[in-house]
Amino acid sequence: MYEGESLGLVGESGCGKTSLSKAILGMQEHMSGEVSCHVSRPQMIFQDPYSSLNPSKTIGWLLMEPLRAAGILDKKCAMSKADRKAAAYDMLARVGMDEKYFHRLPSELSGGQRQRISIAQALITNPGFIIADEPVSALDVTIQAQIMELLQKLQEEMNLSYLFISHDINVVYHMCDRIMVMKDGRMIEIGETEDIFHDPKEAYTKSLLV
Ligand SMILES: Nc1ncnc2c1ncn2[C@@H]1O[C@H](COP(=O)(O)OP(=O)(O)OP(=O)(O)O)[C@@H](O)[C@H]1O
Ligand SMILES: [Mg+2]
Repeated sequence: MYEGESLGLVGESGCGKTSLSKAILGMQEHMSGEVSCHVSRPQMIFQDPYSSLNPSKTIGWLLMEPLRAAGILDKKCAMSKADRKAAAYDMLARVGMDEKYFHRLPSELSGGQRQRISIAQALITNPGFIIADEPVSALDVTIQAQIMELLQKLQEEMNLSYLFISHDINVVYHMCDRIMVMKDGRMIEIGETEDIFHDPKEAYTKSLLV
């Protein structure tokens, strides 16, 4: 992946998209091969905003916790509680949420608002590289467009690289600079988005376009 790019990862259900992202994150067991990463550890945005947020914690706690954890792992990242709180309020604003939500619970938010919080949680430690595994497929179509727009805005503001996973090649079209096509656990084609769309080399890629 290149710095600051969006790489779309497409392929049918079961081809290994989530397994690949787990391998990158070091969460995959029984893996062979090597992951070479020159940026900080990537953060993940999950598909289902209903199960990815701890329901017993306030939004403020959920946003401050990754900063506390990062400070324990690396003393250089340690921040005072007041600074963590300020960073959480700043991140809330960046994802377009009013500061009143700081004291709310996930159960008090809509699906789209929860996904905004998941995004804020992933970005608060300033990771540089984000893996988004079907980040909008659990949302209503109108909300999907808003979340995609937010992800693009944040990419520019925070100079993020995205690995954007979807089984739907059309979803990645507007979002991604390049597209990688996977089949049966292997990469079969990779290229610039326009080339993949207008001049696909593989019959399988063509079949995804119809
Ligand atoms: N924990 C596991 N143990 C055994 N097999 C698994 C496990 N997780 C996934 N698999 C298998 O590995 C293959 C790839 O799964 P993976 O979840 O990576 O697919 P995917 O491309 O993300 O699919 P989807 O689009 O449905 O999310 C599938 O055949 C799946 O059944
Ligand atoms: Mg998957």
